[in-house]
Amino acid sequence: MCCVEPNGERWNQPLTDDDRNLAEVPGRLTNQSALAAWPLLQRSRWVWEGNRLMAAAAWKSQSLQSALIAACLAVTAAVFIRLELLGALGTRLAYITLYPAVTVAAVIGGYRAGALATTFAALAASVWLSPLREAADWVGLAVFVVACVLIVGVTDAMHRAQTRALEAEAEAKLAGAIRESEARLKAVVDTAADGIVSIDGTGIIQSVNPAAARLFGYRPAEAVGQNISLLMPEPHRSRHDQYLRDYLWSGKGKMVRFGREVQGLRKDGGVFPMDLAVSETTIEGERLFIGLVRDISERKRAEERQQQLTEELKTSESDARRQQALFEGVFNSAPDAIVLADMERRITMVNAPFTRLFGYDVEEVAGSDDSKLYVDRAEWRRIGDHIFADTVEAPPVPQSAQFRRKDGEIFPGEIVVSGYSDQSGAQLGYVGIIRDVALERKREEAQRQSQKLEVIGQLTGGVAHDFNNLLIVIIGNLEFLEMRLEEDEERALLRKALDAADMGQRLTDRLLTFARRQTLAPERTSLNQIVLSLTDMLRRTLGPSIELTTVLSPSLWPVVADRGQIESAILNLALNARDAMPQGGKLVMRTSNMEIDTAPVDADLQSGRYVRLTVEDTGEGMPPDVRAHAFEPFFTTKGTGRGTGLGLATIYGFAKQSGGSATIDSDVGKGTTVDIFLPAEPSFGTAGSAQERMQQ
Ligand SMILES: Nc1ncnc2c1ncn2[C@@H]1O[C@H](COP(=O)(O)OP(=O)(O)OP(=O)(O)O)[C@@H](O)[C@H]1O
Ligand SMILES: [Mg+2]
Repeated sequence: MCCVEPNGERWNQPLTDDDRNLAEVPGRLTNQSALAAWPLLQRSRWVWEGNRLMAAAAWKSQSLQSALIAACLAVTAAVFIRLELLGALGTRLAYITLYPAVTVAAVIGGYRAGALATTFAALAASVWLSPLREAADWVGLAVFVVACVLIVGVTDAMHRAQTRALEAEAEAKLAGAIRESEARLKAVVDTAADGIVSIDGTGIIQSVNPAAARLFGYRPAEAVGQNISLLMPEPHRSRHDQYLRDYLWSGKGKMVRFGREVQGLRKDGGVFPMDLAVSETTIEGERLFIGLVRDISERKRAEERQQQLTEELKTSESDARRQQALFEGVFNSAPDAIVLADMERRITMVNAPFTRLFGYDVEEVAGSDDSKLYVDRAEWRRIGDHIFADTVEAPPVPQSAQFRRKDGEIFPGEIVVSGYSDQSGAQLGYVGIIRDVALERKREEAQRQSQKLEVIGQLTGGVAHDFNNLLIVIIGNLEFLEMRLEEDEERALLRKALDAADMGQRLTDRLLTFARRQTLAPERTSLNQIVLSLTDMLRRTLGPSIELTTVLSPSLWPVVADRGQIESAILNLALNARDAMPQGGKLVMRTSNMEIDTAPVDADLQSGRYVRLTVEDTGEGMPPDVRAHAFEPFFTTKGTGRGTGLGLATIYGFAKQSGGSATIDSDVGKGTTVDIFLPAEPSFGTAGSAQERMQQ
């Protein structure tokens, strides 16, 4: 006997350990594994045990071959024993050993063996033991056969009764096993966390477990008997019947499969996402579909949340990248040096202008405190006091400080510092924006100097003009008087007065030049020619201890200026250089063209093209306070009678009146360089107003 599954598959083979585990631990079933376990649940351990008993009860040893062997053996043994007893018994009791032989054959081999044994025994007896010679022999044989038939019949009846009892016992055990299996299955189905719904081939719901009832909001009794499309939202609801029919007809379609995401419809109309696994089976020729459903709303929500978070993360990452790019763009393209430092004032980041300004690379300063940027620690502390002290949020104010570059050079700067903090307000450090203001200061100083000289010029110019007028009158009258005087002694006194008046006139003349009120005689001329024309005379004047060199630009633009004033300026500068080099030295005179862009900031020039005359000596140089006053009239360090202090003043005044300027670059021990800038001739430059200014 064997058990056959409804779909015809044989399953009476012993269960594997995996099968038993699956069948005995239903609580662990997942959606897919529960479906996979469905057939296994039906052939549980007890079912298999009943099957085994049934098989044991089936007494199938009555094959003809075994019956033949049993009969042969029993009869042969009986005949042999009886022949051995011939001496003792003779022909009496010929069948005595054959009865037990038939009985044994029937008991062991069944009715077939009994019948065969009877036949063999009858034949053997009639041949060897009791030959059929007379009627009594025939009667004896007949009695033997009848008796054997009875023995075999009784034995077989007893045998059948025993078999039935065994079968009844096995069937009872099997029925119990099936009931228990069903109860277990029901318990699994009822307690399953997932919904289980079975439908027949027409889509009518056959069973609904409590989880499915809860999920869809129907009582099991309400759902059973309804079409499964009841649990589906449109458009699946309208399509389902046709879909099922097509599947049953063609076997095509995805009716049966694990883990498919679909939508379910609750009784209250709510639609929810669910995971659906469908398996198919056949029971007594009826096709049955079993669906396992699981509400995945929560999972979907979690997935959506995750998706949203991922999107937000991506957005914030790209925002952060944009911010970073923006920050780096601003940070590195800012015109000023920017330094970022932590709360301990250790540098964390610097921009490219910082490297240009201070000469330090990022690696050289990162991690070290920012004191090395300041001229000394007192200055560093002074600036530091402001960084974190401000509790009130006020706009940062620029502070002046002295900074030090990597090469040790000190420069004046302005720094704006402000603390920066994270989103929670916790201070992270400070940002310092540093600007080199050396050029600015120089420009401001040059403007101040220029304004000061202009004011002095206005004052002295007025006085010099009046004095000049007076001197003209004095000189005129003195000359008139000289013609009238006849006494030599008187004439000599008058000559002295006239000489003094002439000196006064020269002096006022120079003052008028400084005051830019000189009557100039501008002409187109070349500075190179003027320099060359003076070199012989200059060499003689300077003496052999001073080496005069000229470096003249071959393509020098011409200028329109007063030649006499230029010559006078060159002579004055050469004499100043000589005075500054009592032990001798080098004097270089250079001419060059210059665009305004390359003009020194202290020249205070308007835009245009200029010709530059540079007079450079290797003399003692000027200390800063001398340099600051050197262009002022009557400023001299040469003592009474040796210098008037008007040389540089007239050069400056002439250059300014000509539309140009003059600058001094000098340091003690490094020599002095004086530059005179004159506008290039208008056709060669844009300083077209030079001529007009000269006419003033
Ligand atoms: N080449 C120079 N080297 C060093 N110091 C100079 C040089 N040129 C001018 N000075 C300084 O500038 C001062 C003013 O010079 P400036 O030519 O105006 O007057 P001076 O030379 O003293 O007198 P003057 O030129 O009227 O004879 C000088 O007294 C001197 O101290
Ligand atoms: Mg001088």
